[in-house]
Formats: sequence, structure tokens, C-alpha cells
Amino acid sequence: MYQLLKLPLRGFTFRISYLSNRISQSQRSSSWFTETKMGPPDAILGVTEAFKKDKNPKKVNLGVGAYRDDNTKPFVLPSVREAEKRVIDRQMDKEYATIIGIPDFYKKAIELALGKDSARLAAKHNATAQSISGTGALRIGAAFLAKWWKGNREIYIPNPSWGNHVAIFEHAGLPVKRYRYYNAASCDLDFNGMIEDLKKIPAKSVVLLHACAHNPTGVDPSLEQWKEISSVLKKQKLYPFIDMAYQGFATGDLDRDAQAVRILEADCNDFILAQSFAKNMGLYGERAGAFTVMCTDEDEAARVLSQVKILIRGLYSNPPLHGARVAAEILNTEDLRAQWLKDVKLMADRIISVRCQLRENLKNLGSSHNWDHIVNQIGMFCFTGLKPEQVEKLIKEHSIYLTKDGRISMAGVTSKNIDYLAESIHNVTK
Ligand SMILES: Cc1ncc(COP(=O)(O)O)c(C=O)c1O
Repeated sequence: MYQLLKLPLRGFTFRISYLSNRISQSQRSSSWFTETKMGPPDAILGVTEAFKKDKNPKKVNLGVGAYRDDNTKPFVLPSVREAEKRVIDRQMDKEYATIIGIPDFYKKAIELALGKDSARLAAKHNATAQSISGTGALRIGAAFLAKWWKGNREIYIPNPSWGNHVAIFEHAGLPVKRYRYYNAASCDLDFNGMIEDLKKIPAKSVVLLHACAHNPTGVDPSLEQWKEISSVLKKQKLYPFIDMAYQGFATGDLDRDAQAVRILEADCNDFILAQSFAKNMGLYGERAGAFTVMCTDEDEAARVLSQVKILIRGLYSNPPLHGARVAAEILNTEDLRAQWLKDVKLMADRIISVRCQLRENLKNLGSSHNWDHIVNQIGMFCFTGLKPEQVEKLIKEHSIYLTKDGRISMAGVTSKNIDYLAESIHNVTK
């Protein structure tokens, strides 16, 4: 009886699965995205995935580009906690912001970059809009250049640069080229190479510059070098696109970290500026940033801003409120601003201090290598100079996770893991 029932049932099941296979096959061959290939996973997220799977209790994640406290925990700045409370207490509505965001935020943001005494700010030469953090500002800039730039359409970025720069400009249809920046032999700035390359770039090209705490190398030009860069750009008729994702995070001093922008401004260069408040306010996921085109005069600034508004409207309509409200509360309130300056310094100082300790530990372990670049580099990242095979050993044999290029996030180094990290680096570089 059972067999009798089972046989037809089997046939029925077989027919269903046969039919559904045929349907999915025919659907697949006629689907709209048959040609869509699987993309590669994000390199940095891949590091974190591998770290999460590792069972070694000593494992260390040095891939993430976000600040961590000495217990490797995310850090919400005390100034941000207090500002957030005050914003919530005010029980504001949730209406849309304007296309260019919250004026109390973006006006203070550009003032933070240029300084209170900026003559061109007073003369209203700036077209400024709130953006979806630094990436959003870069993307608005790319869209604006794609539409309005009349010079060479290639964008020159440093070699190496933050990986997303290529994606952002290419997404807007602007091809990316490189200029020399990093000297791998000395783990330092290849200043002569950089100047030589800048002099060869065709006039009326756009040159992307990291204002401070260069990602991924941690190598920044000195004040004197910035002056020379600025004068070469001016002489060669090159247009600076400044990416400032780490103001305050490099030295702990917001004015000092803005020196590149201020030198370029003082030399009467016009420029584009992308600002992020992800790192210096720890507002990563809140997406607070600002986009500025520094124009020749007020009239040009008004025309440019009108076009920036049109672009933003088509891209995402208007920016999110909360992060910008928190940042505005800090930037416009004396006590919160004072607390914030302390918070920024605390983060920068912790990073500077682990840099010194790591170099000392490597020296004390008897390493024959010169590790001075660990302290000479600045900001969140250190380009260790470790070779790919040494990186692989660090990951496989010591459970220390970093990107293949040898970049480590100093924010992941703490008083608890620094001894193990130094021993492991010594081990793979002996
Ligand atoms: C050089 C550089 N530019 C821009 C950004 C943009 O960051 P966000 O979009 O989170 O503000 C980053 C973040 O890592 C960066 O390193």
C-alpha cells in the first residue's frame, strides 16, 4: 500500500522539481541581469570578516579605519554625548533640511577649515553645502566637475591614495591618474618625485590632495613643502581638490591640521574642499560633512551654489539631520566646543603615544630595522613597510589582521596588545 502511494508521489515530486528547474533556467536566461558578474568583496571588510572567524584569544584587528579606546571599544566623544542630549531635549521636528543642509552646521564647518579670519569667507567667495560625510562631499565634487569642468578631465590622485577615490571619480565618469607621493624605501614622502610629477601634469587639470593624515601612508608634507606645492599648483595652473577627512585627528590641533587648506587659500588658489566629521567628532554613521567650492568672487560662488543644489537634488534630495545638528551644537556652543577640542586631543594623543611605544618595543626587542617612520607618520594609519609575505605571516601565524599593503590602523593598538604586536612584527621581520 505504502509502495503504491509512494511511487506516484515520487513521480509527482520529480515532475515538480523538473518543472521548477526548467522555469528557473529559462527565467535565468531571460532575466535582466544575467550579465551582472559577482563583484570582489571590499578589501577592508574582508579583513574584519577573517578576524571575526579567528578563535585565537590574542587576535588583533588593525584593519578598521575607526578610532578605538584603549579597550578596543568604539568611542563616543563626551562632547557628542552632551550635544546629543541637548539636541534631543529641544524636541525639534523631523522636517526636511534644505537641499544644502543646516546653515548652523555648514557655515561653521567651512569656518573651521579656513579659520575665523578668512578674508575670502568674509567676502563670500565660498559655495558651501552640507554633505553625506566626506565621501558624499567627494561625490558631489566629482559630479560638479563632470558637469562643469572645462579643463583636462583626468583627476590626478597621489600614489597610493584612499581606495575609494578611484571609485568616486570613475563613478562620475572622470578617469583617474597618479602622481608620485610615497617613497617605499624610506617609508616617507617622495617630495622631489611629487613636485616633478606635478610639473608634468597638463595645465587645467584637477589634483587631489589629502589635507592631513594621508590615508593610507600617514605621510604628510611639512609646512614648507605645502608652500612649495601650493606655488607649483598655481604656476602650473592646476586646480586643487582637497580631501580633509582628519582635521584635528593628526596633531590634535584643528588649526595646525588645516595648514594645507590655509596655505592654498592664502596663495589665492581657488579650490574644492571635502570635509568629514566622521573621525574628528566620531560621527561615522551619522554622515556629517561639508562640500565647498572656493570661487573667484561672490557672483561666481552664487552661480556655483545654484548648480550644486541642482546636482544634490538629483543625487539624494537633501542631507540627514541628526549628525549635522549634533555637530552644529558643538561648533556653536562655547562649552561644548571647548570639550570637543579636549576630546580630539585625547584621541590624537593616544595614537601618537602608541606610535612611540610600538617603536620603543621593537627597539627593545633588538630589531635591526629602522622603525622611525612609525613615529614620523601621523594620523590613524601607519604604513609599516611590511612586505606581503610578512603580512601573510602576521595574519596566519599571529592572528594580527591588516591590509595586504602593510597598513595598520594605530587606533587598534592598545596598552594590552602592543607587546604582542611588537613581538609578532619582530618575529616576521627577523
Ligand atoms: C582620505 C579619506 N577621505 C575621505 C574619507 C571619507 O570618510 P567618510 O565618508 O566616512 O566621512 C575617508 C574615510 O576613511 C578617508 O580616509
